Amino acid sequence: MAFEIVATGKAVPPGRVTNDDLAARIDTTDEWIRSHTGIGARHIAAEGVACSDLALEAAENAISMLAEKTGERIEDIKSGLDLIILATTSPDYTGVPSTACVVQDKLNARNAAAFDITACCTGFIYGLEIAAGLLSIAANRKRALVIASEILSHFTDPDDRSTAVLFGDGAAAIIMEKTPCPNEGVNRRGLVQSILAADGSGALSLYIPKGGTRNPFKVGEVLEKLPSMKMDGRAVYNFAVRAITETIEKLLKADNKTIDDIKWIIPHQANARIVSAAQKRFGISDEKIYMNIEEYANTSAASIGIALDELNRAGKLQRGDLILLVGFGAGMTYGGSLIVW
Ligand code: UT7
Repeated sequence: MAFEIVATGKAVPPGRVTNDDLAARIDTTDEWIRSHTGIGARHIAAEGVACSDLALEAAENAISMLAEKTGERIEDIKSGLDLIILATTSPDYTGVPSTACVVQDKLNARNAAAFDITACCTGFIYGLEIAAGLLSIAANRKRALVIASEILSHFTDPDDRSTAVLFGDGAAAIIMEKTPCPNEGVNRRGLVQSILAADGSGALSLYIPKGGTRNPFKVGEVLEKLPSMKMDGRAVYNFAVRAITETIEKLLKADNKTIDDIKWIIPHQANARIVSAAQKRFGISDEKIYMNIEEYANTSAASIGIALDELNRAGKLQRGDLILLVGFGAGMTYGGSLIVW
């Protein structure tokens, strides 16, 4: 049996903030942001828009794609979903309830188990393997909806130039189906290799210090600023370059492949320089790497899924193509997937 991605979707809020918009407010420049990160703009959700709102839009988008493809009724696809796995670091509520349950209700996907995962920017990669694993262990489970949704603008200090320029809001969704195709041999399909990894020694290189049980809000406390991400950019950068190269190397080795066998590499869109470092290491041409960081900045868990949906809708993924996804981020977490489309 194979675990195939049969539909994709995305949601990006309309509010677009360019580097020049930021430079008008904080001490930065379009030139600095572009040369250090490759970012030109980011999309920011309007006040009142929550993680589940973007998640729902991305999920509906993927469900519509599947309905068009198979002729099924949208309601039947929803009620036939067995799992909803939602990767996020910016949930609707602080842990209770999961954002996945909010989405399950809004979709009326009444037969789906629903839960969130926190693997930060590697959330989409973790979500794919968890979905495949849970589909594989129960004969009656057929379809999983994997969503990655982030409103990181809520946890970014707008006055901190070291983080405010980096992050954007967005969501992506895929539907994974258990099919009778093989997942080995020449006719194999779907998720064929997966690597999940973590190095918790770097947990405080990127974190939100306030609001959890380690450093809770106290009654009567007056906050000068909202809790926001604190980052040791250099440490994350060095980790990310190691993580992306190690993951690509391991995935290729596990599948006995070279870069030449890969049609597309879709990296987490954190910083174009991190991706360039991996490109140089493996001699990867620009045409093989899909980048959209210039428009969306770093949308954390959602970035790989947004890129996958853009490629899919542009008709650039052909049946049989070997696609390599690679993610890394806070935790520190990292990992990757090899998919036969
Ligand atoms: O999903 C994972 C999430 N996080 C990441 O991917 C972040 C990984 N790290 C990075 O991408 C890079 O470390 C950054 C883009 C965050 C920073 O780039 P850098 O080349 O490592 O810059 P730096 O932190 O070493 O700072 C260089 C200079 C400093 O000024 P001085 O001390 O040399 O005078 C900073 O204060 O650049 C300054 N700087 C800025 N200047 C203009 C830092 N942020 C900005 C800014 N605009 N936005």
